[in-house]
Amino acid sequence: MRHLLTLEDIDRATILRLLDRAEHFRTRGAPRDLLAGRTVLTLFFEPSTRTRTSFVLAAKRLGADNVNFDLSRSSAVKGESLLDTLHTLEAMGLDALVVRHNENGMPAYLAEHAKTDVALINAGDGTHAHPTQGLLDALTIRQRRPDFENLHVTICGDIRHSRVARSDAQALHALGVRDLRLCAPRAMLPESPDEFPGCATADDFDDAIEGADVVIMLRIQKERMAAAQFPEAADYHARFGLDRRRLALAAPDCQVLHPGPINRGIEIAPEVADGAQSRILDQVANGVVTRMAVLAELLAVPA
Ligand code: CP
Repeated sequence: MRHLLTLEDIDRATILRLLDRAEHFRTRGAPRDLLAGRTVLTLFFEPSTRTRTSFVLAAKRLGADNVNFDLSRSSAVKGESLLDTLHTLEAMGLDALVVRHNENGMPAYLAEHAKTDVALINAGDGTHAHPTQGLLDALTIRQRRPDFENLHVTICGDIRHSRVARSDAQALHALGVRDLRLCAPRAMLPESPDEFPGCATADDFDDAIEGADVVIMLRIQKERMAAAQFPEAADYHARFGLDRRRLALAAPDCQVLHPGPINRGIEIAPEVADGAQSRILDQVANGVVTRMAVLAELLAVPA
């Protein structure tokens, strides 16, 4: 692997290798000097708590030098172009560049135009992909249910605008999940079924969650919607929110995931977000070891 831009073309063996390495780091720790002398720069054009901080921690825990690029104090505000910024940063000696951007395809564009062999890692681009979230969600599910081929997984929420849903579906399909259901109000379902091959769609959450082994709830992404598309919060919660009553329709040991940040009381009730079946904070913890595994893989450090 040269870059990590999407999970679309990544095969099962590669995903399993990354998950195994992440699990190894989680359970046995990692050598503190594994990436000594390497430089990882995080460049975020959109806000982030989990992804950015976990990449910084992942780099530090493997001994890399980490630079958290502060866009608001950079020469980008003086009009420096993105490619000039990229080439300037590369000239200082970068090994990995972690990019989040609101435009689909921007990390791939930077990868195409890089002048060095810097590894580009997509930390979320528009509605397109969030590959490390897909990997850490698969890792979280596997810790309790490694039998992916037997799982019924329901993803509920703003599927249309969700890069997480796309990357989760790609990872889970590659790992063998056959029963993957997408549930949302019609206006938030994918525009074309081709965007989510092999997934069923539904707009009745009670039906879609029945018997589910895993339910992944998604945030309403107001920043990616026209104002006219915003649902009324109470109405949305009544039809598509995960509360105790609805969770009882799922399998008794159903795992509840949410990539965060959470809109409490809209897509998920606090008693479920904080309840015994919630894996949300496990996802956060797994984010660090998953990103450690990705950095080690891309920077070609032997396992
Ligand atoms: N899940 C996720 O991408 O969260 P952040 O926006 O906080 O990074």
